[in-house]
Amino acid sequence: MAGPISRRSTNASRSVLRSRISVAILIGIILGCIFAVLYPHGFFSRDSYSDSHFQSRRLSRSNIQIKCESTERVNMLKSDIEDLSNTNDELQKQIRDLNEKLRVVEQKNRQAEQQVVVVGDPQKAGPFGTVKGIRTNPTVLPDEAVNPRLAKILEKVAVKNELIVSLANSNVKPMLEVWASSIKRSGIHNYLVVALDDGIVDFCKENNVPFYTRDPDEEIDSIGKTGGNHQVSGLKFRILREFLQLGYGVLLSDLDIVYIQNPFDHIHRDSDVESMSDGHDNMTAYGYNDVFDEPAMGWARYVHTMRIWVYNSGFFYLRPTLPAIELLDRVADRLSRDPSEWDQAVFNEELFFPSHPGYIGLHASKRTMDHYLFMNSKVLFKEVRKDDDLKRLKPVIVHVNYHPDKLPRMEAVVEFYFNGKQDAFDMFPDGSD
Ligand SMILES: *[C@@H]1O[C@H](CO)[C@@H](O)[C@H](O)[C@H]1NC(C)=O
Repeated sequence: MAGPISRRSTNASRSVLRSRISVAILIGIILGCIFAVLYPHGFFSRDSYSDSHFQSRRLSRSNIQIKCESTERVNMLKSDIEDLSNTNDELQKQIRDLNEKLRVVEQKNRQAEQQVVVVGDPQKAGPFGTVKGIRTNPTVLPDEAVNPRLAKILEKVAVKNELIVSLANSNVKPMLEVWASSIKRSGIHNYLVVALDDGIVDFCKENNVPFYTRDPDEEIDSIGKTGGNHQVSGLKFRILREFLQLGYGVLLSDLDIVYIQNPFDHIHRDSDVESMSDGHDNMTAYGYNDVFDEPAMGWARYVHTMRIWVYNSGFFYLRPTLPAIELLDRVADRLSRDPSEWDQAVFNEELFFPSHPGYIGLHASKRTMDHYLFMNSKVLFKEVRKDDDLKRLKPVIVHVNYHPDKLPRMEAVVEFYFNGKQDAFDMFPDGSD
């Protein structure tokens, strides 16, 4: 669409320009002659100088003065002027028409430019197998005015415009301890704890953990201080927005996670949302075709369905793009309207459900993280710890999301991966009792 329009409009602008130049020259000649008749002894009185400064420079440069000097010529020109003034109305009309055309062309140009901003230069599709859609959206222009105090903190903490962000209140302090010490042992420097109460502020100061306290906000504060796990979890969608607006890529991290390697060495950054999965193998983590069977339908008893285990909303990376911010807004909005909804379910529904009648889906690109590198505790306890090859694999993180006895299992992960204690997992059942 934008291609033909802009090419057409370039041609149109050129011809408009040409006719405008001709009209301008014509007007110049007419004016020159009028001045020659009315002011035969000199063109520019003091008074008229400033008004006609621009025109007079053009007139004197074109030497019309000399050409119009003789009276004979003046008479000839007088009659010319008469002729020309008859055509003047015609010209005025043409100028008006041209101006209108110019306005339309300019408007179309503006529209074309707007399309270009969104989709880039229009291109022809390349040969078979060579075309690829946009998945890496442009990042937003950082807007420091959104939160100058946070901007200053992030300038110091972030590495290559990225950082790990976590929310904590005192309910989760013991896990925060394991979380933070594993981050330090993994050589990660770009992380920040959003401290939701004074106990966490004190903890961070004592343990040299970078932290940030938000400006008072009644609603958020009451959830942050007293809220349970799920409620605090819902807060993060509102709090993260500013980080993205400031232009930072954010790796949101819950606290029931042990870091073993630096995750920034293992994320791909090609999608708006890159998330760890609750899946436990390739199919469940990366998606598969599940056949639904309805025998009563006879010939058409099988229906294929698209299945994927949910993304874990406790560990995901967002690029600072509009779709990523839109995701946060949509989830925060839904949670604020119905606080009983589970943030992880809402997060996935917003991310995956397509547009349909009465609903416009989010157009965000997504990537599932490797389920062995970004390992959930089901994968670890049901599979990895029982397999000699997989036991040698070094995950980037382990997320104890599948088990309620989080702290002892986190400590076991530390024992196993940092201290080489081979039997660290032996005392735990696969699931919880
Ligand atoms: C799972 O996927 C990975 C990467 O896509 C592949 O290397 C591996 O062989 C797959 N494993 C199985 C059991 O299919």
